[in-house]
Amino acid sequence: MKPERRPRRPQFSSGPCAKRPGWSLANLEGALLGRSHRSGPARDRIREVSIRSREILGIPADYHVGIVPASDTGAVEMAMWSLLGARGVTMLAWESFGAGWVTDVAKQLKLDATVLTADYGHLPDLAAVDFSTDVVFTWNGTTSGVRVPNGDWIPADRDGLTICDATSAAFAMELPWDKLDVTTYSWQKVLGGEAAHGMLILSPRAVERLESYTPPWPLPKIFRLTKGGKLIEGVFRGETINTPSMLAVEDYLQALAWARSVGGLHGLIARADANTKAIADFVEMRDWIDFLAHDPATLSTTSVCLKFTDDRIKDGAAFAKAVAKRLDTEGVAHDIGAYRDAPAGLRIWCGSTIETADVEALLPWLDWAFETEIAAQ
Ligand SMILES: Cc1ncc(COP(=O)(O)O)c(C=O)c1O
Repeated sequence: MKPERRPRRPQFSSGPCAKRPGWSLANLEGALLGRSHRSGPARDRIREVSIRSREILGIPADYHVGIVPASDTGAVEMAMWSLLGARGVTMLAWESFGAGWVTDVAKQLKLDATVLTADYGHLPDLAAVDFSTDVVFTWNGTTSGVRVPNGDWIPADRDGLTICDATSAAFAMELPWDKLDVTTYSWQKVLGGEAAHGMLILSPRAVERLESYTPPWPLPKIFRLTKGGKLIEGVFRGETINTPSMLAVEDYLQALAWARSVGGLHGLIARADANTKAIADFVEMRDWIDFLAHDPATLSTTSVCLKFTDDRIKDGAAFAKAVAKRLDTEGVAHDIGAYRDAPAGLRIWCGSTIETADVEALLPWLDWAFETEIAAQ
């Protein structure tokens, strides 16, 4: 039987993610449009992004928080191109995005990195990481639904820098700032902002590296963080490298205000946790579906990845696609097919802008779509 109740908002994409509840385009009417981004009022709005992000995320006062071009990818690549090569490098990869950073470092920067990998569903051996090298890793593997459990595996007295792609973790998971030298994320993920701009957060040690090391390769203007061996402080004070979208800035500032209204970081984390728990309770009661993540301690609370485990399924990939399509056609869940490089299954975004009531309303539909597809095989 088809369920009667439908999620009020069927947007469960893992990026761009659902807008915050109550979002409306009309709220952006006050955006500072048609003005130079170098004008005083515009610079103040842009600077506000760094101030409010720092406030909500609890970023230490001696860290730099800046806005950079090209979303999270821009921020990660800028960090790698600017910082790597000074010492050995260790790359951790357990899904598609981490693997992409390995390709950058090995094939483009041509660095002889130590690469620690794991299959989808697992983490590499974190105890094997050599922190005398720089270490590049993803906090939450968006395409496998596996995250690092915490920062305990990162020593406080490391010699190398840690460069962390936290785009699907920031605002939904605790990030131990003392363990992270470079952290990146994009506005389009947990806060449901717009894409295009990335955030780059630097520890004092990362700044020290930037000011003491010049990489041997050319750096395009869009990546340059120093001038004459000194950090370009303006990038972290509202003077972006190139022109930002003031519409996206306004939207992100409103997302940050919403974040405050739901209890700041703890409220945001609690929302993602509750969404994930709703799915965990559902999975627990069924023998035909399971998480891709093997260890519950590494289960993502944003990009929740599921696999079908029923013996009756003949073609796993076709089956998962058919279920996702059925739910999409019904208008109860958009964009929940597994990522193109990931094992067959579903990926349901549980980040903080998602309402738990919507996850709960979706789950009976999953029962229905599963049974319908089993019967249709
Ligand atoms: C872990 C991770 N890194 C990088 C990206 C790329 O992000 P963007 O498109 O914002 O550059 C994504 C997008 O889903 C991601 O999940």
